[in-house]
Amino acid sequence: MTDPIASAYRLLEASLVYSEGREVGTIASLDAHAPAENYADCFVRDFVPSALVFLLDGRSGIVRNFLALVLRLRDQQEEVEGHRTVAKVMPASFRVHCDENGNEQIHADFGDRAIGRVAPVDSMMWWLILLVAYERISGDQAFTRSPECQRGIRMILNICLQDRFEIFPTLLVPDGSFMIDRRMGVYGHPLEIQALFFGALKAALAMLDDAHPENRGVREHSAKRIGQLTEYVRHYYWLDEDRLNRIHRFRTEVFGHDSENALNIHPESIPDWVSDWLPVDAGYLVGNLGPGRMDFRFFALGNLLSALFGLTDADQSRAMMRLYEQRWDDLMGMMPVKICFPAMQGGEWRLKTGSDPKNIPWSYHNGGNWPALLWAFVAAALQAERPDLARRAFDSAATRLARNGWPEYYDGRNGRLMGRRANFNQTWSATALIVADKFLNDPSSLDVLSLKGYGKTHEEDPEQGDTG
Ligand code: GLC
Repeated sequence: MTDPIASAYRLLEASLVYSEGREVGTIASLDAHAPAENYADCFVRDFVPSALVFLLDGRSGIVRNFLALVLRLRDQQEEVEGHRTVAKVMPASFRVHCDENGNEQIHADFGDRAIGRVAPVDSMMWWLILLVAYERISGDQAFTRSPECQRGIRMILNICLQDRFEIFPTLLVPDGSFMIDRRMGVYGHPLEIQALFFGALKAALAMLDDAHPENRGVREHSAKRIGQLTEYVRHYYWLDEDRLNRIHRFRTEVFGHDSENALNIHPESIPDWVSDWLPVDAGYLVGNLGPGRMDFRFFALGNLLSALFGLTDADQSRAMMRLYEQRWDDLMGMMPVKICFPAMQGGEWRLKTGSDPKNIPWSYHNGGNWPALLWAFVAAALQAERPDLARRAFDSAATRLARNGWPEYYDGRNGRLMGRRANFNQTWSATALIVADKFLNDPSSLDVLSLKGYGKTHEEDPEQGDTG
């Protein structure tokens, strides 16, 4: 039988994308029969585990090429008529085209071509987080502190910190603006965006150079926002037995500054599954929060990134891992990691997905299992001192994934079946396994993603080490 890691590396090498003779990214899927044309693009979010492999293998030049290219592409974005100077975001994906004379053109998708025209809000945040990882490994400040990079960082923060119609310290986004890039009732203040926003703010503090005087204002703003965001998420998004009891008995319709139920959540909106499902000594961050709205679904990547970047405190991260341990079949099943739990069914599925046949219950984004999330689980588990869970997840994925040909996702309540419309040879399914393997073999390699020590998080627990 072939070694899964060796087979994952073969897929990674075959997925490399070149521009002007240099490696600049990896394509999302090498499946010739992929259901959508854009799987041949290099997606920014899909490149993250590829980048981690390259960094940890001493091939940081590829990551630099990618970061420089995405930064340049941002300026390709066209303005939409009727909008005042559009704030520039980074693309969801790009592709290198070659005409018959061998001239190259790079086409980027800013959501203007994507299925459903979804806004790739997560791209710029991943870019910033990768920039820190790149500097940490390569030490190449000539690039990261260059005027172009510094300007890029400021532009990202200007978009994120701009005042629009905000009441909360969290970031308001449209539906499908991150890994879940289809309509799924994830508009508003979805957790994954808040975790990435937190990571991006910390990354900005790590990267903004005081030698550029224009950086000082944004720096101050970012530091303040980190504090507010942290306090807000740790309090309002957190759900454990105690908190559930409080919400269950919430008084509603209370006006003024000091209502415990500030968002006017109606206890009647707690879904039936929650109280039986939530173990006594465990907890998690809920999926979304807004006026009169608490989305109780468990979204894996938002929770795992929160634990990894330190948006949750140490106790909360440990409680989250106890949830995984005690609800393993639901949240990991036969192929880690379930993207969200539980799936939406019936009327809720019709209303919130727009009757999307790709997102039927327990499939794809609506409760499917995604191997691409494995690296984040392993990283968060190791960070929360649960190497046993990290190992268990890795072992349950490795052999089957390689044997099945690196599917994009799995279907079913326990992730038993290969996804009905899943691609094979999905690059991030393979690179996630390689990264997980590296983290497990050498937990100190997790340091590549560490954002600790940047920005105060009002950490109650000094052992976490956020010193500001
Ligand atoms: C799907 C996923 C998205 C991913 C893309 C390429 O659209 O929902 O998260 O980036 O495929 O793999």
